[in-house]
Amino acid sequence: MSNEIGESQVRYYALARQALVQALQLAQVGNGDNVLIPALICKDVVASVHTVGATPIFYEVDENLAPLDFAKFLNFKAAIAVNYFGFPQDLKIFEQQCELVGALLIEDNAHGYLSEDSSNRRLGTRAHFGIISIRKTLRIADGAQLLVNDNSIKLLPTQLTFTQLSPGLRPTLQRFLLRIQQSIRLPLLDWTRSLVRIGRILVTGKALPVSPSSAEFEEIILSAPRESSIKRIKQLDEHAEVERRRALYAKVDSVLTKCEVSPIFASLPHGCVPYGYPFYASARNAKSAEMLVKHLGVEVIHWPDLPESVIDLAPNHYKEVWLVNFL
Ligand SMILES: Cc1ncc(COP(=O)(O)O)c(C=O)c1O
Repeated sequence: MSNEIGESQVRYYALARQALVQALQLAQVGNGDNVLIPALICKDVVASVHTVGATPIFYEVDENLAPLDFAKFLNFKAAIAVNYFGFPQDLKIFEQQCELVGALLIEDNAHGYLSEDSSNRRLGTRAHFGIISIRKTLRIADGAQLLVNDNSIKLLPTQLTFTQLSPGLRPTLQRFLLRIQQSIRLPLLDWTRSLVRIGRILVTGKALPVSPSSAEFEEIILSAPRESSIKRIKQLDEHAEVERRRALYAKVDSVLTKCEVSPIFASLPHGCVPYGYPFYASARNAKSAEMLVKHLGVEVIHWPDLPESVIDLAPNHYKEVWLVNFL
């Protein structure tokens, strides 16, 4: 790549979409610039691109979630490569194309805190910029990182002052219920989730939250995470969390051989710390899968809420992605 990748400089934000806005600003992406993003993506990433005034250009991904026809893109200022569910994306074609057109590469590692590729490189450190949504790995109200790995960028904005807000009712309650669940072996967290889903069906008609179409045009304002979230990130026993996630992946994999779902990835690569267990299934089969893994204290979610500009032409596999969430 044209600009050298070196030691990471880190800034914390409340959300990874904010870290992405900052990355785009540091890459001097603005009005009239094109940013390549995968079509299999959530609306928040699109909103970050719109926030800096740039135009998202979607590239397709195949069933292994690798880019298709990427070499055809010649007019863009930055490209985003996603490590879906913490599984390392092969960056070679992205690096080649960015080098060719003089664009910068952003590694969207929102899903992959602690994860590494087969050369033991931490995900998020392999491109000019990396973003990580740590709150998807830890039960905290907020917490995301921007990694600036491009050696030529010397001047970063100062770290926003961490807020003194309380740790947040939801993650605190979830951690509390989980602790009780583990000691008395009653699925309190499951019951609470079911109650929340019933409430949501009554109010919105859907069991899982759906972001409004306007979400992709929402202006993303940068904000700092809570000091309490940062404290929890620093206190994390990383080794234990890596082991827990990898062991859970193996367990879910063995349980789900009994139902009609297809894992997205054929195996769990060395060093990979999965966000969860991603699989393809119809809604009906995903429900059956959920029943089979429920006893492990995990939830099955559908991902992503596709952007409006993608949904009509999206291939079937984009609409059949489910995740056993290990949070
Ligand atoms: C691939 C990807 N990138 C970025 C984000 C944004 O993360 P956050 O919710 O922390 O802003 C998400 C959120 O779901 C995501 O799935």
